[in-house]
Amino acid sequence: MGFPATRLRRLRQSPALRRMLQEVRLSPADLIQPFFVCHGENVRRSVSSMPGVHQLSVDQLVKEAGETFRLGVPAVILFGIPAEKDPLGKEAYAPQGVVQRAVRALKESFPELFVFTDLCFCEYTDHGHCGVVKNGNVDNDATLELLARTAVVQAESGADGVAPSGMMDGAVGAIRRALDQAGFSSRLIMAYAAKFASAFYGPFREAAGSTPQFGDRRAYQMDPPNAREALREAALDIEEGADIVMVKPALAYLDVIRQVKDRFHVPVAAYNVSGEFSMVAAAAANGWLDGPAVAREILLSIKRAGADVILTYHAKDIAQRLQSLDR
Ligand code: PBG
Repeated sequence: MGFPATRLRRLRQSPALRRMLQEVRLSPADLIQPFFVCHGENVRRSVSSMPGVHQLSVDQLVKEAGETFRLGVPAVILFGIPAEKDPLGKEAYAPQGVVQRAVRALKESFPELFVFTDLCFCEYTDHGHCGVVKNGNVDNDATLELLARTAVVQAESGADGVAPSGMMDGAVGAIRRALDQAGFSSRLIMAYAAKFASAFYGPFREAAGSTPQFGDRRAYQMDPPNAREALREAALDIEEGADIVMVKPALAYLDVIRQVKDRFHVPVAAYNVSGEFSMVAAAAANGWLDGPAVAREILLSIKRAGADVILTYHAKDIAQRLQSLDR
């Protein structure tokens, strides 16, 4: 039945009706807020390429994370800026490492806050690569041992979930075995399953000081044209024990999010990465775009694509706005 009997505008005529008929809804409960944590006290060091984002010392992190949690955002993910970098990224698995201290402080103040730790070495190594470098190459299996060790140290500090982001083969299995052996079978693994070698990570590398000092990450992260291969990555990670699989970045890979969602029956996360955030922030700062409105539309596209959870630097801000909209 077509026009004039059918008139789709009937469905759009009032705010209440439109609200009722929304096919997907954005809620603070969908979001994970990333934080960069550094040593020191009372430190709030702004990241120039990510307006509004800071490197925070543990005391400041506790404050910010508390505010975010009270707005209904259930989870955070932590990235650490170490005091010193070395070839093996030792601070990543030091019991007094910055992330370990941050996790303990967060869980003490907000036991209900779900704390993920990013599990990778590029922030901790002097060469900026995501693992142990041998002959100019990241050695996969040597890196697995360090990943397993770091996961256990993070879990000992109280991390509820670990998120391996280095794209090493077999990482999820090695981490699951290590956690189980150490008595942490209840801790989650959110695997960066399909992580592409993306130019959208540029601002993050400023925030985390993790730019590779030679070469690039193309020999471990995925090649942007490949969606089928992303499905193989997701399948392997699920087989190895991933509880949640992630696609990253989000915006340029919405098709991959949808295919992973349709194919597998695990929760799907999507990472709305630093470059996606900075594009919106830069245009908004110039008065070219309405930043919060665009951010909301982008997050809705990621939900429509099939993401169950979204890691985003907009989390706190959007949660604040959603609260006032709901009234
Ligand atoms: C570390 C890591 C990166 C991001 C998350 N974990 C950077 C990279 O792979 O170079 C990017 C996050 C973002 O851009 O917001 N492996």
